[in-house]
Amino acid sequence: MSGLLSLSYLIGSVSFIVGLKMLSHPDTARRGNLYASIGMTLAIIATIFLYTNSDGIRLGNYGWIFSGIAIGTVLGYLAAKKVQMTAMPQMVSLFNGMGGACAAIISIVEFKHLIHTGVDFSTQPIFTATILLGLIIGTVSFMGSMIAFGKLNGNINDKTLPMQQVINVGLLILLLVLLVAIALGLVGGNPMTWMVVLLVLSTLYGILFVMPIGGADMPVVISLLNSFTGIAAAFGGFIYDNNVMLTGGILVGSAGTVLTVLMCNAMNRSLVNVIVGAMGGNKTAGGSSSSSGGTYKEITPSDLAVLMMYSQKVIIVPGYGLAVAQAQHTCHELEKILNNNGVDVKYAIHPVAGRMPGHMNVLLAEADVSYDKLLDMDEVNPEFSQTDVVLVLGANDVVNPAAKNDPSSPIYGMPILDVESASHIIVNKRSMKPGYAGIENELFFQPKTSMLFGDAKDVLGKLIAEIKIIAS
Ligand code: TAP
Repeated sequence: MSGLLSLSYLIGSVSFIVGLKMLSHPDTARRGNLYASIGMTLAIIATIFLYTNSDGIRLGNYGWIFSGIAIGTVLGYLAAKKVQMTAMPQMVSLFNGMGGACAAIISIVEFKHLIHTGVDFSTQPIFTATILLGLIIGTVSFMGSMIAFGKLNGNINDKTLPMQQVINVGLLILLLVLLVAIALGLVGGNPMTWMVVLLVLSTLYGILFVMPIGGADMPVVISLLNSFTGIAAAFGGFIYDNNVMLTGGILVGSAGTVLTVLMCNAMNRSLVNVIVGAMGGNKTAGGSSSSSGGTYKEITPSDLAVLMMYSQKVIIVPGYGLAVAQAQHTCHELEKILNNNGVDVKYAIHPVAGRMPGHMNVLLAEADVSYDKLLDMDEVNPEFSQTDVVLVLGANDVVNPAAKNDPSSPIYGMPILDVESASHIIVNKRSMKPGYAGIENELFFQPKTSMLFGDAKDVLGKLIAEIKIIAS
């Protein structure tokens, strides 16, 4: 490998690490993304023009390579430009699936190559196992991501087979046994036939793994599949002795795993359940239980305007409904007008509010809400007791006290925002329907709570108009 190529890979690897670090804060996230993508571009260009194989031959096939790059760039650019914030998980899933497919294709090509060199597998079992692991993990990641995409897009429903967990675990064991047997040269016949068997079984596992998982748990699965893709890419780096691919794969794999664990903790789910494809399958996610027949109070925008103008401290709790209504700009306008009238306004961000990690942070950043106003759950929970008004905007599960009080609830144990301890709780949503977990919220029926019905953007517009009248 030429010195220049090694240097490009080193710069690429460093840019991934620096970029990833910068993604951990909203202030630096955009730049971090840019640095990592510049590093990736450098690594790709260097590979295309500087890489030579053991016979000293360059890649060639420039027409094919640049046609592929051009098509991918145009499709990726258009998809990212057009996607709605609420459809972001689907897009992440689709793009992740492409990464998994690439890793699987690399393994297929390399396995064929290995056979054509006439090598006896049993003499290099680790190398063969690496190729086959890349095939299995890449295929599971591709197929699983496609099913996740279909589910989030509403094209595929949750389906659980009888004895689903036994089938899934059985398939996984079969895949691993076959992999070891092929790598050790214990199976006879045509090796390509065995590779096709592995491909078919991995495809089946990818489908069965994601199929029973409930829609609300899908972001966790996407994050897990994302880490699978990273691991599969790292195997590709190992096969090609390519350091930048290895580093990139390890970073994606470990970042995806950390995110999966964090999301599981935030939702009080176990990772083992996710892996065996059981998580959320029995939940009533997206269900329709609606009313206990309890009584609730309503408040009008004009009464709320008075209440807020007499408050010292207001905390806004954004949720999925805010994203649906695209009310982030109007919300920021409310914050500014209250600030101008001496009211302290902050935002309480639950780690799984919305439909993907950081959903609310990105949404509010888009409306130029200052990052120092966004408080994490642990930071904000002690503040609710000194808060005059909590305005819950299109959030539901993340403020449901059943998570603390009702052991029979599917969300029992999930940490929630303690909005109940504020003096007044105002909940904006369009109806009394449940949120994503499909369960009723007793918060709506408590004496300190008032419902403000309507689309978040419309209601906030009316509220701002009323506040302007009072302030003038
Ligand atoms: P949800 O519990 O889904 O509640 C959103 C509420 O917004 C709904 O009750 C809905 O009620 C309301 N709404 C919808 N459109 C609206 C509009 N235009 N204007 C006003 N309100 C509107 O959301 P959440 O509290 O943000 O909780 C997130 C859920 O997703 C949790 O169950 C969480 O576990 C799950 N989840 C999240 C993640 C991540 S990483 N974010 C990952 C996995 C799972 P109406 O229909 O009555 O309006």
